[in-house]
Amino acid sequence: MSLHCWRVANGAPSVVLFLLLSCLLITIFNGFCSADPLLFYCPNSANFASNSTAASNLNLLLSSLSSQTSLKGGFCNISVGIDTSPVYGLALCRSDVNSTVCGNCVETASRDILSFCPNKEDATIWYEHCQLRYSYTRFFSLMVYAGKYPPWNDKQPNVANPDEFSQILDGLLNQLITQIGSNSSDSMSAIRDASVPGTGTVQGMAQCTRDISIGDCENCLRDAAGDLEGCCSTRQGGMLLDTSCDLTFEVSTVKGRGKSLIIIITSISVTVLVLFAGSCVYYLCKRKGRQGDEEKSQNALLTSMKEMTSKHVSDQDKNPSELPLIDFDTIKIATNNFSDTNKLGRGGFGTVYQGTLPDGKEMAVKRLSRRSWQGVEEFKNEVLLIAKLQHRNLVKLLGCSVEGEEKLLIYEFMHNISLDVFIFDPIRRLQLDCRTRLNIIDGIARGLLYLHEDSRLKIIHRDLKPSNVLLDKEMTAKISDFGMARIFCEDQNTANTRRVVGTYGYMSPEYAMEGIFSVKSDVFSFGVILLEIVSGKKNNSYLKEHGQILLAYIWRLWDEGEPLDFVDPSMISSCLRTEEILRCIHIGLLCVQREAADRPTMSNVIVMLETDSRDLPQPKEPAFALGRVVVQNDQSSTVICSVNAVTISNLTAR
Ligand SMILES: *[C@@H]1O[C@H](CO)[C@@H](O)[C@H](O)[C@H]1NC(C)=O
Ligand SMILES: *[C@@H]1O[C@H](CO)[C@@H](O)[C@H](O)[C@H]1NC(C)=O
Ligand SMILES: *[C@@H]1O[C@H](CO)[C@@H](O)[C@H](O)[C@H]1NC(C)=O
Ligand SMILES: *[C@@H]1O[C@H](CO)[C@@H](O)[C@H](O)[C@H]1NC(C)=O
Repeated sequence: MSLHCWRVANGAPSVVLFLLLSCLLITIFNGFCSADPLLFYCPNSANFASNSTAASNLNLLLSSLSSQTSLKGGFCNISVGIDTSPVYGLALCRSDVNSTVCGNCVETASRDILSFCPNKEDATIWYEHCQLRYSYTRFFSLMVYAGKYPPWNDKQPNVANPDEFSQILDGLLNQLITQIGSNSSDSMSAIRDASVPGTGTVQGMAQCTRDISIGDCENCLRDAAGDLEGCCSTRQGGMLLDTSCDLTFEVSTVKGRGKSLIIIITSISVTVLVLFAGSCVYYLCKRKGRQGDEEKSQNALLTSMKEMTSKHVSDQDKNPSELPLIDFDTIKIATNNFSDTNKLGRGGFGTVYQGTLPDGKEMAVKRLSRRSWQGVEEFKNEVLLIAKLQHRNLVKLLGCSVEGEEKLLIYEFMHNISLDVFIFDPIRRLQLDCRTRLNIIDGIARGLLYLHEDSRLKIIHRDLKPSNVLLDKEMTAKISDFGMARIFCEDQNTANTRRVVGTYGYMSPEYAMEGIFSVKSDVFSFGVILLEIVSGKKNNSYLKEHGQILLAYIWRLWDEGEPLDFVDPSMISSCLRTEEILRCIHIGLLCVQREAADRPTMSNVIVMLETDSRDLPQPKEPAFALGRVVVQNDQSSTVICSVNAVTISNLTAR
C-alpha cells in the first residue's frame, strides 16, 4: 500500500488537513472514488480577493462551463468579463466518453476546483474523464509544455517483458501522434490498441485541447511521449498530463492480436539485429586498428560536418573549437529525416538516431524530446560547456543543432552500442570476459570521477544506468547523457530537485524518495551497475523473477560467505584470480549502502579498485527498498532556469 503526502505552500492548514484526509481515503478506498481528481495544479500565482469582481466572474465562468450545451463535442473554451476583469476557462472531455459522463465530470470539476486550488488565479484539474482549467490570464492557443505525472502512475505494476514492451509502447505512441498529425478531423484525439504478445493489448490515447494548432498539438504530444516513456515504459499503465495535451496508455489482459503491430515489431527487431550484426562485423574487421584511429575519425567527422555546413555558419569555421553549432538540414539529411530505420534507441531525454554524412562518416544524433526551458543562447552555452568535458570514458559531444523548438545533440558514434545490450543478453554476455568487465567497471569509475571531481563543472549525472554506458570498438566504457540536467535547466546546486529524472532500480533511496541528490546518488547507481556487470543480472527485473531485488540476494550470499555464487559463470571461468571479482562485489556493496555518508566517493572507489580487499571497510546491509519515482510539479514553465518553491509534492513510499 502506498501513502500519499501532499504539501501545499501558502495554503491554509485546513486545506492541508482536507487533502491529507482525502488522500488517506483515496488510499483506503482505492478505486472506489471515481470522482477524485487524478491531479490538480495551481501555480504559485497571486491569490485573489474572494469578494472581487474577478471572483464573481470566475464563479460565473465555472457555472457556465458546467452547464455548457456546447460541451457536446467534448470541448469548450469561454471567457467572462472581458471588459471588467476577464477570466478564461476551458474544459475538455476524453474523446471516448458520452455527453452524460462528460457533463457530470465537468460539473464535478467546476464545483471542486476551488477547493483544491483556493483563490488561485490559475488552476487546472484533471479527472479520469475530463480536465478543466481557468486563468485570469488569457491562455487560449498558447502551448507551453509542462507535463506532469499523476500519482496513478506509481500504482501501475511492471510488465513481464520490459524490453519488448517499451518497443511496442514506443511504436504505439508514435502512431497516435502521427494519426493526430495526419488527420484533419478537429477532435485532436486518437485512440489505438497494440497487442502485447502473451499478455493482451495495450491501449493508448492521445488528446489535445482544441484551442491550440495541430502543430503545437504534435509538439506537445512528442514532449509528453518522451516523458511518459521516461517514467513508465516498463509499467502496465502510464499517464502524462499537460494543460494542453494528455497521453495515456494502459495494458488490458484481454487476448488479442494485431497484424500490423507484429509487422512493426518484426521490422524493429530486424533493424536492431541488422544494426547489431553490422556493428559486430565492423568491430571484428576493425578490431586490429590502431588506438589513435578513433580520435582521428572523430576529428574528421567534425571537419566534414563543418565543411557541409560552412555555407550556413560563417563565423564558426574561424574558431571551430568555440561554437559546436551544426546546420540542422545537414543532420536531417544524415539521419534520413529522422527515419525509424535510423533510430538507435529512446531514453527519457529523447530519441537517438544514427546519422551518416554523404562521405560515409557516422554519428549519433539525440533529438531532445521535450523542449528545454532554456532559450537557444542558454542551450548553446550549456552545450559548449559540456562539449569541453573531454575524457576517455565520456562520450564525446561533437556539437548541437537548433531549429525553432527542435534541439539536437550530436555525439560520436559508438560501434558496440551500450552496456545493457551485452550484459543482459545471455549470448552476447559471453563476449565479455573477466578482463573486459573489469576494464568497463574501471572505465565507468574514471568517467564518473572526472564528472564529479576533475571537471570544472562538477556534474552529477543523475541517470547513470547500463544503457547510458556506451561501448566503443575496443569495448571501452564511455558514459553518455551527462550534463542533461544542465541542458534541461535543472539546478545542480540545490539539494532538492523539482523533477526526479533517474531510472527505477538505479536511484539511491534518498534521491528516489526525497528528491535529494548528490555525488553519492551517482555512487549508488555505479554500485548497482557494478553488481549487474558481475552477475549478468538486472537489478529491477531480478525482483520479479526471484521475489527479491538483486541487492538483497547478493547481501544474503555475502552474509553466508558465498559471494561467488552471485557471479556470472562466464565471468568466473575467464578470471585468473577470483580475488579481483570478490573485491568488485565488496566495492559494489559499499556503493549501495543505505546512508549516503556510508558510501565511498568515486576517488575512494578508484583507490579501492586497486586495494587489497582485506583493507576495505566492511559493508553494512544495503538499501533494499528502492524508492519509486517522485514527482514535484514545477511551478511555472515560463520562469527560466530557476527552481521555485514546491507547491505540491507527492511522495510514494513502498
Ligand atoms: C472585500 O472584503 C473586505 C473585507 O472582507 C473589504 O475590506 C473590501 O473592501 C471588500 N472588497 C470589495 C471589492 O468589495
Ligand atoms: C477559444 O479559443 C480559440 C482559439 O484560440 C479562440 O480563437 C476563441 O476566441 C476562444 N473562444 C473564446 C470564447 O474565447
Ligand atoms: C454513457 O456512458 C455510461 C457509461 O459508459 C452509460 O452508463 C450511460 O448509459 C451512457 N449514456 C448514454 C446516454 O449513452
Ligand atoms: C482519422 O479519424 C477518423 C475518426 O476520427 C478515423 O476513422 C480515421 O481512421 C483517422 N485517419 C487516420 C489516418 O488515422
